[in-house]
Amino acid sequence: MAKFKHVLVIPYPAQGHVTPLLKLAHCIADYGVKVTFVNTEFIHAQVMAANPGLDEGSSRVKFVAIPDGLETDEERKDIPTKMESILSVMPDHLQELIEKVKKQSDGNEDEQISFMIADLTVGWALEVAERMGIERAGFWPASASALVMTLHIPKLIEGGVVDNNGFAPKNDLITILEDLPAYKSNDLVWSCPEDPAIHKAIFKYLSSIVHHSKRTNSFLCNSFRYLEAPACSGIPGALPIGPLMASARLVHRRGSLWNEDSTCLNWLDQHPALSVIYIGFGSTTIFGMEQFYELAHGLEQIARPFLWVVRPDLTDGPVTEFHDGFLQRVRNYGKVVQWAPQEEVLAHPAVACFFTHCGWNSTLEGLSNGVPLLCRPYLGDQFLNRSFICDVWRVGLGVDGDENGLITRHEVRKKLLAVLGSEEIRANCLRVKEMARKSVSEGGSSLKNLQSFVELMKA
Ligand code: UDX
Repeated sequence: MAKFKHVLVIPYPAQGHVTPLLKLAHCIADYGVKVTFVNTEFIHAQVMAANPGLDEGSSRVKFVAIPDGLETDEERKDIPTKMESILSVMPDHLQELIEKVKKQSDGNEDEQISFMIADLTVGWALEVAERMGIERAGFWPASASALVMTLHIPKLIEGGVVDNNGFAPKNDLITILEDLPAYKSNDLVWSCPEDPAIHKAIFKYLSSIVHHSKRTNSFLCNSFRYLEAPACSGIPGALPIGPLMASARLVHRRGSLWNEDSTCLNWLDQHPALSVIYIGFGSTTIFGMEQFYELAHGLEQIARPFLWVVRPDLTDGPVTEFHDGFLQRVRNYGKVVQWAPQEEVLAHPAVACFFTHCGWNSTLEGLSNGVPLLCRPYLGDQFLNRSFICDVWRVGLGVDGDENGLITRHEVRKKLLAVLGSEEIRANCLRVKEMARKSVSEGGSSLKNLQSFVELMKA
């Protein structure tokens, strides 16, 4: 019987990247593939602390760590500093790691790394693999439509659609592929309306992906053909294998970086079907204090059951004082946690809608569970995801800012009521949910792609 290669899997060091790649690692391990999963030392310590037992037992996934070259939490939160350090420090450490595994294998070829799956946002890893004669595939953690835009960066610059820093000088619609809906100029995948320096840094970082992507012919995407057929067809070598879901059997396989507060699941159990508003803005969104207060007042005014994830670093100032009064006032219908088991929350029958920042994982998790979405994007591809949610798949609505960009409590209340009351949105959600389920079921397009990819990993 053909043996499998030893596969190294490496994500960009952030929650929204570790989660889908860890799910993929476990998926292929279930077929018998031996996987070494490479985190940065910092992320490794976080994942292990929040998921005791993840690296034990019968799992074929082994966890190892390399340095990211950063010293402090502040440096890691500063996107340009983090990206620079990753690019300059990690490639050499990755190469050393692969060499070390080879040495330890003592000539046993089965033990040596012979295949690499690299997050395209650490696309330099594909160059390391190429240099070392290792077969490889890229993985894209966002939407296929976002990958199309990223791979077309040189053409966008050439055509004057964006300048060398990724800013669009005109407000025109952007057509990249004929079959794909035209992109809005403020839906650029590297958008950061609140900070042009971050916009520039992300653009520079993503531009390097175009070059690195030439090191592979396979692009695994966490999407499914029904959802993004034109984008999938527009990427030569695209293998949509999503939506990647954590199996109910081993939920810790998604590798949360923080302890999940599962008391919210018991709390949800006490609520009728389709009665609870779930609010979660991912792992990196930060709100100014005024905006945070408006959201809180909006939820208070709507006076319906809600579950809200308020990370300790969700705001740019201290919220304790406000929080105490707020929690007291909403105690009969609201619950606040610091980090939730989000996939279980979204799968819970009590959840009626999801107020989200439109991170791609959150978007897919909402779609896979048929939950209508209310969108408030913050950074990067989240703006593009909002457009698809609202205008293409029609599974949600967006909230609009006032003349100062503030999303007021009235807007929050109005849009939540509109999403909750829309029969059309709910019907569209159920249709997409069904198609997501079919894609990963026996005979489904994503499962077939995954199975043929696993064949590639046979020695
Ligand atoms: C980011 C980007 O937003 C995303 O679009 C990109 O493709 C990957 O990185 P992030 O902003 O954290 O990630 O959002 P998202 O993609 O939604 O990922 C967050 C993950 O954390 C989700 O899988 C979600 O289930 C999980 N989560 C979030 C929890 O488990 N508990 C929580 O309380 C909140």
